[in-house]
Amino acid sequence: MRVYLETFGCQMNELDSELVRGQLSALGYRFVETDADAQVVLYNTCSVRELAEQKALSRVGTVGVRKRAGEDLILGVLGCMAERDGVDLLRRHPQVDLLCGPSDLDRLPQLIDNVRRARAASQADEAPAAPRPRAVALAGNRSRRSSTLAAAEDGLESLDLSRAFDPSARETPWSAYVRITRGCNKFCTYCVVPHTRGAEVHRPPEHIVDECRRLADSGALEITLLGQTVNHYRYTHGTAVTVDGRAAPQVGPGLRAFREAPAPGTTSFADLLFRIHEAVPSVARLRFVTSYPRDFGADVLQVMRDCPRICRYLHAPAQSGSDAVLARMNRGYTVGEYEEFVARVFDHLPDATLAGDLIVGFPGETDADFEATCGLVRRLPFKNNFIFKYSPRPGTVAIDRFADDVPDEVKRWRNNALLAVQSETSARVHAAWVGRTVDVLFDGARAHAAAPARTAGAVAVRVGGREVDGPEGRAAGRWQAVGRTMGDLIVAADMADEAAANELRGSVRRVRVDASRPLLLAGKLVPGQ
Ligand code: 5AD
Ligand code: SF4
Repeated sequence: MRVYLETFGCQMNELDSELVRGQLSALGYRFVETDADAQVVLYNTCSVRELAEQKALSRVGTVGVRKRAGEDLILGVLGCMAERDGVDLLRRHPQVDLLCGPSDLDRLPQLIDNVRRARAASQADEAPAAPRPRAVALAGNRSRRSSTLAAAEDGLESLDLSRAFDPSARETPWSAYVRITRGCNKFCTYCVVPHTRGAEVHRPPEHIVDECRRLADSGALEITLLGQTVNHYRYTHGTAVTVDGRAAPQVGPGLRAFREAPAPGTTSFADLLFRIHEAVPSVARLRFVTSYPRDFGADVLQVMRDCPRICRYLHAPAQSGSDAVLARMNRGYTVGEYEEFVARVFDHLPDATLAGDLIVGFPGETDADFEATCGLVRRLPFKNNFIFKYSPRPGTVAIDRFADDVPDEVKRWRNNALLAVQSETSARVHAAWVGRTVDVLFDGARAHAAAPARTAGAVAVRVGGREVDGPEGRAAGRWQAVGRTMGDLIVAADMADEAAANELRGSVRRVRVDASRPLLLAGKLVPGQ
């Protein structure tokens, strides 16, 4: 069977898709590049903002047109939107054959198989009036588990454990994601994730270290540890809960636990980082996302300082620069506390880089609140921030409790104004690297001015799925190799031609930085290495 799988949303979803691909490939399914010649079409969806859902729904609509025209396809909606919308989605979109939430992806092969068999049976019966067979696996109220035992029963661990270590299974063989926690216990009022991915569950450290080791053996130079609040990782040993004699995943300890030092017999996030760093010396870069700015202990910063292959890069979303808005968001910290956290980071790691996410137009956000966010971006050295317009999400506290009272044109204006402030800060952060020599892990190539112009005078460049601005008005056909520093700064190095630029993909080389843009460093390879 030919399968087309498209992924929307975050890195967690990208990893889920990689695992699904591995699992289905092992069963003989073959993956194809376009949906046109697929027999099974799967969309792994995101619910964080309405726009992401709309994109997926428009794809679902297109497949509906094909099915109504008589094509015999299986259409599956996976991920957060399947979980959030549930059977309503089936009701509104009769062309959808299966739904599979993010906590049930281990059951996907069975779901596809059920739909296939039931469809074959109903065709054999020649009973056109019979309801079309569909299959559903959603966590529903199981999604917030309350005991270690329930987490141990969580079949999803088997999906992570079934990972294919074939480098060709990864889009970039030199770089891999490893999940350390799933779900989230934070309940920020705007966020759908605790509802779609359930409670925080931590994977056993030995599973994680083993996975890192095998990825390193299969050529991974860079490993990114994933968790919604990655620094909440904490695993208690000796609980005697096992699955088939192996250690089991555990529900997180609750937020209060982070006010105290980890108890003896636990593996903290700092311990885990150190263990991986020591266990896989061939991994040149160990990184992690996303950090929750509270509960980020000095122990983690010390490990980062002591271990040269741990990236001094933090993605720690501030979300807002106004205390009143942070309180309504239930973020659990004030602007002052966020700034103290950043000061601690730079105290320990003077060459660290900081990035984050910000939401504009949260309910009740005044001009003064917004100006406070601009002030935060001016004061702190954010290399970049992803900036989002608030999008009310069904099932969240914010949609019930607060009116979405910032008009869309105001959200749009604030979004653009904040991007302009961020651009100035990014320019400052990047300029400070000019004259320095950096290690770059190359992952792409590009020609100046060969990419389509996005706005007059600026060239859009795609690097690892992100858009960055590029140097203007250079002669067409000049090639650069593009990659990232340990601190996730994007670097372009001049190369003789396309082949030379491509040849560097997947290798770490030294670059002398000689120019900067708001989101780009430019330089030359240091010869003779
Ligand atoms: N509206 C807008 N942005 C949101 N995010 C999460 N939920 C929403 C929402 N309802 C943003 C946050 C988060 C990032 C992944 O998405 O900034 O850090
Ligand atoms: Fe989207 Fe969040 Fe789910 Fe990722 S975890 S797919 S960003 S809703």
